[in-house]
Amino acid sequence: MVLNRLEKYWLTAVAVALGAYTAALIAGALVFGIHLPSPVGRIDPQKLDSTAFAQPGIHNIGGNRYEAYILAKMWAYDAGPDAGPVGAPPTLRFPVGSEVTFYVTSKDVIHGFYIEEHSLSLEVVPGQIARGTINFNRPGTFHIICHEFCGAGHQIMYGQIVIE
Ligand code: CUA
Repeated sequence: MVLNRLEKYWLTAVAVALGAYTAALIAGALVFGIHLPSPVGRIDPQKLDSTAFAQPGIHNIGGNRYEAYILAKMWAYDAGPDAGPVGAPPTLRFPVGSEVTFYVTSKDVIHGFYIEEHSLSLEVVPGQIARGTINFNRPGTFHIICHEFCGAGHQIMYGQIVIE
């Protein structure tokens, strides 16, 4: 097979680019720990009353580490009584330097869970538990936004996180 000189250049360029992308992917996963948020468990949306989501809320699990159980439903996030009246957009408060692991599930349809200015964007699918961990290293108020169209009240489905 005879290859034109330019063909060889392009084949080499493509091989180098693919190699670089593959190396970046592997380094991202193994060295920098970048993974797609994935469901950590299954849950029956009809039987949430017998799970941790029966009483959503924030738990301190030692030092600056927290777990937040949040139930998404049309059209609000329920983050427990400490986050404000149920049905209203919740306010979650954490001290600066907190490491918070969010566990989110849905009672009805697919919702989103996006935290402004932090790299967390979860798909909240009924029947699955979505999980993501964030380190809040600077003070501020950051919105939680539902980024999946979930019906008539989608645009009023939000909350906020206050780091103080
Ligand atoms: Cu929930 Cu959009």
